[in-house]
Amino acid sequence: MLEPAVAEELQRTWDLQQETYLPYRESAFTALLDSVEAVGAEHGRVLDLAGGTGSLSRRLTRRFPGIDVTLLDLDPVLLAIASASVAPTVNVVRADLGAGDWVAALPYDSYDAVVTATSLHCLPPDRLRVLYGEIRQVIAPGGLFCNADRMAEDNLATMTARLAVRREERSGPRHTWQDWWKGIASDPRLASVLRERGSGLTSADWYPPGSWHMRSLADAGFDEAGVVWRREEQAVVAAMVATGADASAG
Ligand SMILES: C[S@@+](CC[C@H](N)C(=O)[O-])C[C@H]1O[C@@H](n2cnc3c(N)ncnc32)[C@H](O)[C@@H]1O
Repeated sequence: MLEPAVAEELQRTWDLQQETYLPYRESAFTALLDSVEAVGAEHGRVLDLAGGTGSLSRRLTRRFPGIDVTLLDLDPVLLAIASASVAPTVNVVRADLGAGDWVAALPYDSYDAVVTATSLHCLPPDRLRVLYGEIRQVIAPGGLFCNADRMAEDNLATMTARLAVRREERSGPRHTWQDWWKGIASDPRLASVLRERGSGLTSADWYPPGSWHMRSLADAGFDEAGVVWRREEQAVVAAMVATGADASAG
């Protein structure tokens, strides 16, 4: 197990580099946590899908002390950092979202909310469409799914690009994914998990617009889906499962 102080420092540098890929990340996280609270899942079971080092899990347990969080990811290095720095109540599990059997790795059959950030672009379209159906199956009535990632507005390409240029002109130094992994590669405390990781995961790097996500979530059986937060290309899409009462009222 990593020393807690080492894991904390790696969390700090991870968050810095992730902000490069999801600008306004902290604000997106707040919108996502507000959505968790809005469905009453702050005292329930929440699944942090592709949770990496645990950025979201840590924010969930800090803001909602009664919450029961499961963090799922495949990368052994990120999971080692997560295990040493999330709250002891968080279940940390290793599974591959590239295949349907990830569900068998979960400690519970159903969750009040499933959340994910900057991750589902790793999966190709056909797999993500199917995954949305699998996620729908583990969400309890009245529950929520939230995805924070880069997903453009359909008809605002020119303005979005201009806003991004302005932001980049004003932002500080870029902390890149490649630089972060270079630092990790030379850290002897991570040597055994680095060996297990090998050359790392592949990513489809596929960023469909928000409308694609909403359509696919509706096709997967969610009752409502839409954008709850947006800044430039970054958005948080939320999808709801009706309660039994909603369904009988309809
Ligand atoms: C950019 S990171 C984001 C991590 C975290 N959600 C955050 O916001 O800090 C993408 C994450 O997706 C995970 N991931 C990619 N492909 C995966 C797969 N097939 N199964 C499980 N996790 C996967 C990676 O290991 C990594 O933790």
